[in-house]
Amino acid sequence: MYYIGVDLGTSAVKLLLMEGGGKVEKIVSKEYSLSFPHPGWSEQKPEDWWTQVMAGLKELTADFDKSKVAGISFSGQMHGLVTLDKDDNVIRPAILWNDGRSSKETEYLNNVIGKDNLSKYTANIAFTGFTAPKILWMQENEPDKWARVAKVMLPKDYIAYKLSGVFCTEYSDASGMLLLDVKNRCWSHEMMGICKLREDQLPRLFESYEVVGPIRPDVAAELGFGRDVKIVAGAGDNAAAAVGTGTVGEGKCNLSVGTSGTIFISSEKFSVDPVNALHSFDHSDGGYHLMGCMLSAASSNKWWMDDILKTKDYPGEQAGIKNLGENHVFYLPYLMGERSPHNNPNVRAMFIGMSMDTTREDMTQAVLEGVAFGLRDSLDVARSLGIKIERSKISGGGAKSPLWLKIIAAVLNLKLDILENEEGPGLGAAILAAVGCKEYASVKEACDKLVKVKTTIEPDKELVAKYEMRYQEFKKLYPTVKDLF
Ligand code: XUL
Repeated sequence: MYYIGVDLGTSAVKLLLMEGGGKVEKIVSKEYSLSFPHPGWSEQKPEDWWTQVMAGLKELTADFDKSKVAGISFSGQMHGLVTLDKDDNVIRPAILWNDGRSSKETEYLNNVIGKDNLSKYTANIAFTGFTAPKILWMQENEPDKWARVAKVMLPKDYIAYKLSGVFCTEYSDASGMLLLDVKNRCWSHEMMGICKLREDQLPRLFESYEVVGPIRPDVAAELGFGRDVKIVAGAGDNAAAAVGTGTVGEGKCNLSVGTSGTIFISSEKFSVDPVNALHSFDHSDGGYHLMGCMLSAASSNKWWMDDILKTKDYPGEQAGIKNLGENHVFYLPYLMGERSPHNNPNVRAMFIGMSMDTTREDMTQAVLEGVAFGLRDSLDVARSLGIKIERSKISGGGAKSPLWLKIIAAVLNLKLDILENEEGPGLGAAILAAVGCKEYASVKEACDKLVKVKTTIEPDKELVAKYEMRYQEFKKLYPTVKDLF
């Protein structure tokens, strides 16, 4: 049988067709646009996601026996606010995970409701990217639109709804709404009160590997699929990437270097970072995880390459970089403000330390290093909690650059396991579909059988020492510049 993983990302949807034994048969990618209507705002049209998912599903399965498609599941960009009216029309463009407009509402939640209370209700504090502050923003700034809201949902759950007709979500993604009681896996009545939400406006909760329902007959007919295709709940993209990289069970780590950069630490037990710099979320294997998220990781490099240097030749630009650990330029990766660990939507990116002999290569190198330093900031928070991390899986577009991998391994002083299959979130989603359809007994069993390490990058000792000194300098920069914004 075949299982499909739909990875609804920020720049594109990637669809992956996996045969039950784990062989990836085909991958298709379909782009959509991202709009920044004001500095720090970030929106997308759910209708565009749906158009491209359907086009992608048709292309993905065109040359395969469609009657063998058994299940579809998801990996989704997290935290986005999608609103539907009583007739299921989309009310406004989705407000995405990297949108910083809700700073006033975030301050209200953290300072008036109070971080201690939020942490007690949800295991987390408010960040501008999270869904609850965006709901408060919409109530305050678009009351007429808010008055029409019948359903609040997350990006991938909009696709699950269109495919199945079931208004659903699952615990890993719901954790990032600041509406879920993460420890007890249920909606928080306190947060519903604070956000003036009725429970019928919120989706029904599932485990990531549970079937939410069969595909809608009209959609099955349009795709040429059988009517018994199962729609499986799926996961937020980081939890899905964790499945695709085998980061399940106790004490495993995955770094994702995609549009965002995340460090994901899986755990069987619930825990909270006492200062809430790391998020405490449910995992898609039934357990929990801690996560740090930087907002502009591979997107910093994409901005620098595509928009500033006007090139697509990433390896060519990186080929001239020779002085690892000795760059005199720093880059602060705060193009969209920063989430972990600074929680500051207003700060912006910077280059610091250029001189007349600074080269194009130095600037490119600074971007790669600045992102690695940003990941290190979150890793250090995890280490300060006594969590021992000596190795990690790594996934995401940025992990395709051998130079960047070498820099990240040295800056974080971690052994990095590279997987045979690089499609972390898409593969994770397909695995969840397979578990939902009972091809495997559990997420853990599926990961043990399907996820294989190809090679390991060892941190270069000399570089680790050099980068330790550079990182200590980098750490002084944010406190020095933050009041400028
Ligand atoms: C995680 C987060 C990002 C998005 C990217 O908290 O905001 O990783 O999920 O798609």
